[in-house]
Amino acid sequence: MKTRVISIDPIHPDPGVIAEAATIIRAGGLVAFPTETVYGLGANALDESAVRKIFAAKGRPSDNPLIVHLAEVAEAEKYASLPDSAVVQKLADKYWPGPLTLVLQKKSVIPSVVTAGLATVSVRVPDHPVAQALIRAAGVPIAAPSANISGRPSPTDAPHVLMDLDGKVDLILDAGPVKWGVESTVLDLTTDTPTILRPGAITQEMLKEQLPLVEIERKTLNLTPKAPGMKYRHYAPKCVVHILLSPVTDQVLDQLEQVALAEGKKVGVVLLSFMKVPASLTFFQMKSIEEYAAQLYRVFREADSQQLDVLYVEEVDESGLGRAIMNRVKKAAE
Ligand code: TXA
Ligand code: MG
Repeated sequence: MKTRVISIDPIHPDPGVIAEAATIIRAGGLVAFPTETVYGLGANALDESAVRKIFAAKGRPSDNPLIVHLAEVAEAEKYASLPDSAVVQKLADKYWPGPLTLVLQKKSVIPSVVTAGLATVSVRVPDHPVAQALIRAAGVPIAAPSANISGRPSPTDAPHVLMDLDGKVDLILDAGPVKWGVESTVLDLTTDTPTILRPGAITQEMLKEQLPLVEIERKTLNLTPKAPGMKYRHYAPKCVVHILLSPVTDQVLDQLEQVALAEGKKVGVVLLSFMKVPASLTFFQMKSIEEYAAQLYRVFREADSQQLDVLYVEEVDESGLGRAIMNRVKKAAE
């Protein structure tokens, strides 16, 4: 298959290009498109054979369910039964469109291949003009995982998608880098206690306003993780990733330089702290928590392309967006 890449304005997407992409979706093809979190690999969620192509293109295990993307909040009840519609309505009013995914009881119109056989389905209304326009024009819900090869960092820019999926996707809509850079918050509303299965930009602190009891899933070793995707090594560059305790001191940086020089290793450092870093280290400065989230996967890919042996990543406070960052960093360091 020949993959086409078309540039599209992120704010005012060209209707002609959107119509072309929508035609591919309706015909059972694959379109990679930007969302506010990461790029998605989309297919018609109601077309079983189209959805199978997503799993094949990514090399994704078939027991890992997909998120169904909708253009409008009102669409949700066509595909899922709402547990307590007042709660869902409050969340939707506040956070949709946006980086929040809700796990709900599935309705039978959604083919079971989408949900990997689960009785639940994840839905979200993305907040990106291109994603919005594409779903609307296609006139069908779009199933979309992150548009990377399984196990690789999620793509935060169109070249990342091309790097992973050239020849495996019909069309890539290139609208430039995304806003958040970490995937949506996955919130399970099918259990007694609402539970965050994957932390993201919509934080526990924020959700507490609507859901005072909301918890974050504690990964217990002998329990099957509730979000099947969370059990795979994820988000990882090829090099070894280590977490640097904060605050990072000059002494620590000197030690890293020793590793680089003595062992002849290519060593990278990601810092939120502002420090003078020895020139022998490949250095990535993050100026804020938001930038850290937005750049993390890009840095992982950069570490691969520069063939680093080790990447040291400074820890951040595990609150707010920091929780999403540390969740990805810890997985990469596993
Ligand atoms: O920001 C995002 O969510 C991006 C953009 C493209 O929307 N999508 C994304 O999809 O990250 P994916 O497939 O890479 O990650 C979806 C996660 C996986 O961990 C999956 O196991 C979990 O959501 N998930 C999906 N459906 C589920 C369900 N019914 N129950 C529990 N977890 C589910
Ligand atoms: Mg993914």
